[in-house]
Amino acid sequence: MSRTVFISGGTSGINLGIARAFAARGDKVMVFGRDGGKSQAAADLILAETGAKVMAGSADVRDPAAIAALFADATAQLGAPDVVIAGAAGNFMAPAVGISPNGFKTVVDIDLLGTYNVFKAAYDVVRKPGASLIAITAPQAVQPLPQQVHVCAAKAGVNMVVKVLAMEWGKAGIRVNAISPGPIAGTEGVERMAPTDAEKAAWAERIAIKRMGTPQDVAQAAIFLSSDAGSYITGTILDCDGGMKLGDASGDYLTLPTR
Ligand code: NAP
Ligand code: COA
Repeated sequence: MSRTVFISGGTSGINLGIARAFAARGDKVMVFGRDGGKSQAAADLILAETGAKVMAGSADVRDPAAIAALFADATAQLGAPDVVIAGAAGNFMAPAVGISPNGFKTVVDIDLLGTYNVFKAAYDVVRKPGASLIAITAPQAVQPLPQQVHVCAAKAGVNMVVKVLAMEWGKAGIRVNAISPGPIAGTEGVERMAPTDAEKAAWAERIAIKRMGTPQDVAQAAIFLSSDAGSYITGTILDCDGGMKLGDASGDYLTLPTR
């Protein structure tokens, strides 16, 4: 059965990968970011490769009225959403002494408040029961990281929003979960955190599975969580990180001692 999927930040990177994967399954998709031209280019790409019904939107996740208006329009065009993904985020690397109050607030407003705004607008329009809401969080939610105080604070908040809304909205038949990707190759997020090839290679070496992820890896997790196969899963933060959170897997830990 074809479903309807709205994706904030679905115009590039990981979230575009998620949008492409849902569309490839025959689902109707609405992607949006701030830049309407970028949204239209993403929608054109999805249409060309899948033939799916796809809508390009434009709204800032810091503007609840704009999200509500966009969701009303998209619901009229595509039907009530079955799945809503809150993936829009902003990040930059900087030590706390280099981050102004407005710099900190900007990331919290986009990542944390923006996720809340998207989910609140979703509550009003999603198909109930049966809807699945998914936030895209990050390892920084639980793993302190220098130069990321703003993101760590914001994504920790995202995880809690997910858990509390899962408790409040379960009775309406809405499941609320998050996916926590590890480093995903070729994305803006990785380019900002590990700009050189040497940094990328060192990062991959520390991961149990010995590679960075792909947008398709994350998309498969989203498809699973939102499907009937995930029907009893809510309030969960699903790591999709090749084992990165287990710890540093570089070195030859598996060599058995010889006598
Ligand atoms: P990306 O390509 O930079 O995508 C960010 C998306 O969010 C774009 O569509 C952007 O479109 C939109 N956006 C940004 N600010 C917005 C705002 N204020 N209102 C509405 N839309 C906004 O990012 P990415 O690296 O793929 O990351 C995607 C998600 O995965 C984020 O939640 C990130 O925290 C998470 N994540 C990424 C990684 C990674 O390895 N990249 C790892 C862990 C978690 P516009 O610019 O047009 O607004
Ligand atoms: N170091 C320190 N502070 C920074 C910074 C950096 N690298 N980049 C931005 N800031 C500060 C600005 O100086 C400003 O604070 P100020 O008013 O006190 O000077 C504040 O952040 C807001 O900057 P602005 O450029 O107006 O924000 P914006 O809303 O236009 O853009 C960002 C938001 C900064 C997050 C921008 O990088 C962005 O749009 N990112 C989206 C893409 C992305 O980050 N992808 C990765 C996702 S994980």
